[in-house]
Amino acid sequence: MSVYRAIWERSLRDPEGFWGEAAEALHWDRRWDRVLDASRPPFYRWFAGGLLNTCYNAVDRHVAAGRGGQAALIHDSPVTGTVRTLTYAELQQDVARFAGALVRLGARKGDRVVVYMPMVPEAIVAMLACARIGAIHSVVFGGFASHELAKRIEDAKPVLVVSASCGIEPGRVVPYKPLLDAAIEQCNHKPRHCIVLQRPQLRAELVRGRDLDWEEAMADAHAVDCVPVAATDPLYILYTSGTTGQPKGIVRDQGGHAVALLWSMRNIYGVQPGEVYWAASDVGWVVGHSYICYGPLLNGNTTIVYEGKPVGTPDPGAFWRVIAQQGVKVLFTAPTAFRAIRKEDPEGAHLKRYDLSHFRALFLAGERCDPDTLLWAEAQLGVPVIDHWWQTETGWAICANPLGIEKLPVKPGSPTLPMPGYDVRVLDEDGHEVPPGKLGAICIKLPLPPSCLPTLWNADQRFVQSYLSRYPGYYLTGDAGFKDEDGYLFIMSRIDDVINVAGHRLSTGAMEEVLASHPAVAECAVIGVADELKGELPLGLVVLKAGVDRPHADIERELVQKVRDEIGPVAAFKLVTVVKRLPKTRSGKILRGTMKKIADGQPWTMPATIDDPAILDEIAQALAKLGYPRTGAG
Ligand code: COA
Ligand code: AMP
Repeated sequence: MSVYRAIWERSLRDPEGFWGEAAEALHWDRRWDRVLDASRPPFYRWFAGGLLNTCYNAVDRHVAAGRGGQAALIHDSPVTGTVRTLTYAELQQDVARFAGALVRLGARKGDRVVVYMPMVPEAIVAMLACARIGAIHSVVFGGFASHELAKRIEDAKPVLVVSASCGIEPGRVVPYKPLLDAAIEQCNHKPRHCIVLQRPQLRAELVRGRDLDWEEAMADAHAVDCVPVAATDPLYILYTSGTTGQPKGIVRDQGGHAVALLWSMRNIYGVQPGEVYWAASDVGWVVGHSYICYGPLLNGNTTIVYEGKPVGTPDPGAFWRVIAQQGVKVLFTAPTAFRAIRKEDPEGAHLKRYDLSHFRALFLAGERCDPDTLLWAEAQLGVPVIDHWWQTETGWAICANPLGIEKLPVKPGSPTLPMPGYDVRVLDEDGHEVPPGKLGAICIKLPLPPSCLPTLWNADQRFVQSYLSRYPGYYLTGDAGFKDEDGYLFIMSRIDDVINVAGHRLSTGAMEEVLASHPAVAECAVIGVADELKGELPLGLVVLKAGVDRPHADIERELVQKVRDEIGPVAAFKLVTVVKRLPKTRSGKILRGTMKKIADGQPWTMPATIDDPAILDEIAQALAKLGYPRTGAG
């Protein structure tokens, strides 16, 4: 039997023994009473009774062990032309001081702090400072606009918001502060204070009495120590897209999270303390939480905070430059980044300019990895390229190829096999396991392993309803796929209204809500259509209210702007067309799936329940005007 298999089987047979041993690698202020508290299913708790501090384990523990002089974080920012390094000792000082500033402004254990920042070291400092005092951070991705930020502020009810004057996208400075002000304006809940990092590219106007300059807040603050918190307390809330416009507040606990992430660094990514590890993502996404901030720091690695893109900052050699210059051993990013690099540099000419002999492995996740991209990356880099599958809800890989244990054979198109604690089953409509090769709903048998969401913020009922009620005893991942004869999993599509645009998880339901609120729109549908670069792109079809006789092009332009203003540029919503009617079933359900197949040039059958088959011809004509299906597709 393979070493991996023995480890995985043991984790399912003896979860308490397995995770209890893994937990020994951390510093506990009080040992747990039970590794797994299963007394209140379907709510499971890991390390009940234990006390620890995640910031202590990620920062102070390493300083105490003599790692103070090692780089903890390198901010590599081609968009500002700067590189800045913080050692573990410097990070400890900054975090302790900033934690002091939070306390001075009234933040206490259990209070929420929203962090709305670009890719700067201060974002990590703010997250760790919250962890230090037991406050719960909720980071909001900088590419979201006011309305999305407002939804998260309203739900999390933070006492403080930490933000920055601006973000920097290639070719433009994005003012964050007006977006923050507008969000707070929209909310009933008002945070008491905002701490604003003033960046030299654009300074923000501060609201007197409410806003503080980061520097000022730091200047007056005293360093504070780590507060031990319960392993079952929340470390953070991270909102993610669901079926409706109301995002789900994924809760991450303290103990299980730290244990699983530390285990994953050594065993999945195969990195040792002291090595440089780079997740090219954003702190606003789960990849950023787990593998820019917590994972590498818990493991005593040097983490890279990269403020740039894979292409255009300044060229498609940007990633190779960082790997060479900063000594990166393992890189983690989304397949879309590699598709972007390949498009601009198919022969890998830029790669030849750099010495990557120290580079060991590339990990890809966040969206389906097409075999072409994986094989291209493998051929270019000459190192293992590992597709792995996970979600905001789990915080770490459900399926992966555990390089730190052994390299399993790679099958392009599959994220390989389940990681410890994950009992993955593919189920049919009736909840029976399907045979190999057959498509079904991918589920995980309860209990979920450490780090997976214990619940949704203030919404136990929604947690049960969204994930646990469809198949009692199982967690519904929302992904559909199949296992092959060797048990390798293949993730094929979502079963809900979530789409994946350039590795960013977005809700078509949220976009439909925005379109529907335009005064000219009677009804609408948003579908995800296949895109060569971004994986998927949202495409809107709208029906106008009777009597609206304005030019369609004007309305379409307004709709594009409205989604950009209310959800944010990251939605990449640029395709929209006015149609006379939408195809529906006789019971009134819009046939989004059929429209998607037409747009993607895939075979489709006329749904038996369709109200009026002629509508699909009209839809096909409207899609053709937008250029769908793409030539060569299908
Ligand atoms: N703040 C403000 N705006 C942002 C932003 C941020 N943090 N991040 C993205 N945006 C904007 C971009 O400027 C762009 O605006 P535009 O419509 O004016 O051009 C829009 O949101 C879409 O951004 P993005 O998805 O990054 O697309 P892109 O066309 O600029 O770049 C890629 C394409 C493939 C290079 C890019 O998507 C990429 O690097 N992806 C990596 C994937 C990744 O990090 N995934 C995270 C999960 S692992
Ligand atoms: P997020 O919560 O933003 O990480 O998005 C999670 C979703 O992205 C998953 O439920 C999948 O739909 C998709 N996803 C992530 N990683 C992969 C992968 N390796 N292969 C296929 N889909 C993936």
